[in-house]
Amino acid sequence: MHILGISAYYHDSAACLVRDGEVLAAAQEERFTRRKHDHRFPARAVEFCLRHGGIGPDQLDFVAFYDKPLLKFERLLETYIDYAPRGLRSFLMAMPLWLREKLWIREQVSKEAGFRGKVLFTEHHESHAASAFFPSPFERAAVLTMDGVGEWATSSYGYGRGNELHLLKELHFPHSLGLLYSAFTYYTGFKVNSGEYKVMGLAPYGEPRYVRTILDELVDLREDGSLRLNMKYFDFAAGLTMTNGRFDQLFGGPPRRPESEVTQREMDLARSVQEVTEEAMLRMARHAHRETGEKNLCLAGGVALNCVGNGRILREGPFERIWIQPAAGDAGGSLGAALSVWHQYLGNERRVEEVCRGGSDGMRGAYLGPKFTDDEIEEFLLTVGANYRRAGRGGLAEAVARLLADEKVVGWFQGRMEFGPRALGARSILGDPRSPRMQSQMNLKIKFRESFRPFAPSVLRERVADFFELDCDSPYMLLVAPVREHLRVPMTEGEERLFGIEKLNVPRSAIPAVTHVDFSARIQTVRREDHPLYHELLSAFGRLTGCPVLVNTSFNVRGEPIVCTPAEAYACFMRTEMDALALGPYVLLKEEQGASALAEDHSWQEEFQLD
Ligand SMILES: [Fe+2]
Repeated sequence: MHILGISAYYHDSAACLVRDGEVLAAAQEERFTRRKHDHRFPARAVEFCLRHGGIGPDQLDFVAFYDKPLLKFERLLETYIDYAPRGLRSFLMAMPLWLREKLWIREQVSKEAGFRGKVLFTEHHESHAASAFFPSPFERAAVLTMDGVGEWATSSYGYGRGNELHLLKELHFPHSLGLLYSAFTYYTGFKVNSGEYKVMGLAPYGEPRYVRTILDELVDLREDGSLRLNMKYFDFAAGLTMTNGRFDQLFGGPPRRPESEVTQREMDLARSVQEVTEEAMLRMARHAHRETGEKNLCLAGGVALNCVGNGRILREGPFERIWIQPAAGDAGGSLGAALSVWHQYLGNERRVEEVCRGGSDGMRGAYLGPKFTDDEIEEFLLTVGANYRRAGRGGLAEAVARLLADEKVVGWFQGRMEFGPRALGARSILGDPRSPRMQSQMNLKIKFRESFRPFAPSVLRERVADFFELDCDSPYMLLVAPVREHLRVPMTEGEERLFGIEKLNVPRSAIPAVTHVDFSARIQTVRREDHPLYHELLSAFGRLTGCPVLVNTSFNVRGEPIVCTPAEAYACFMRTEMDALALGPYVLLKEEQGASALAEDHSWQEEFQLD
């Protein structure tokens, strides 16, 4: 039986194919259309999923859509009526798309995907909860979803057992932890729905000066983690912006203009909202624990991408183990919707051994996207006249490890593309974390940005505890933990006085390129069974240097989605100062490539700005 899951029309549209309960394929639409966070109907992602499954649309048994448009529409209308006549402009702006597409999902599925069978709808938070529990490695667990907003719910908790999932309680719009965070994302001058992780990265530079103001004025945070926003300060319910003039007054000025200089004030605001968010996350987790009595916790929803908060739940919360859906945002809703139909609507059994099928969980390491055969890659390399050599059997990891140990920056394109926002060793740019130059070199010469965030490390699962204060799986880079104390380098008094990004250039540890100013790191642990080749590379690099850790950043430049095809990877390689590229078994060295039209096209470097 084939079920196609779809999420669309808000942010990060995606499709997912489930066959007899197994997740076969999943991808975000942006990777195919090359439009970042593409929210349109995921026609290309659907096409990929069907192709991967070797079926046509008529062989699908069900299509599952990740939320209930009518309920969402009702929420929209009720909110507008509540605020009328304010909000008329945003109402008029939103309506055409609703009336043309969003309310006609069945028609869209038939038109865009050619499917004429049964389309089922799950509620937004059910989809998130299902994406958190069903692919998890737990027979039973508490489930917590934290988000901006779906239909009405902004957050929910419950429990999963076997093939059952029960949500016990919901928090309703407009009271939302995700929207509170987004309000500060907007106010500090970043893009709502994608700049949140920048706010998180900025937080360690600031002081929690505004925590009291936030808790006294903006949000009533209760013991059980539920909250009420004081809507006097927010404009997202009816207006076109997140915050209003009263918010400006409270925090002493207008929002930072996007792309203008980041000051201490933004850093303090980031630190403050981050602390409040962590506190809310911890309270919600404790409450879910009290109410369900479960030992394990599953998380999803956009706020579950807050890996600093997740790290605190792991360390301080009452749960023994936590598992986080890698596509915790709305893309993962497609997967949750499809699995929900399989287990809940159709009542199919769920057994953990079957979910994991030899891997760590039901996500196959999140390597669920397209892959390309060696022949396809070589054919492409021949057409562009690239200079390459093929690594011998078992030689690829050794060869690339040597390049990396030589401080070369290497594009690494291997196997199936990742599902979710992070590159996990299939579409990654890699470097040596021990190098004090690596951080700025990768940012300026390859990603064309300056950054106040360090890169994230990949590390062998079996060696993670030697480098970080963490001794469990973190396969999806969704947990932050400190670098081990003996590896840290304390700051001198003079260095302490440096401001913002200058501080980042002070080496904080023996692996400076992946250590944040507060000694934290956003960790990906790699197991052999999830990605044998990437595991082999980390092992080879470890043998060579004693450090089985690599800098892992996504294979793209600023403002672009992560690369999907060999052609996109090659273009990115040629247009940046990346030193080498491993495209499947083929290794390309930059110095051996001839002059290329691509290399001379610097138009996309104009985007050079603070990221
Ligand atoms: Fe969501």
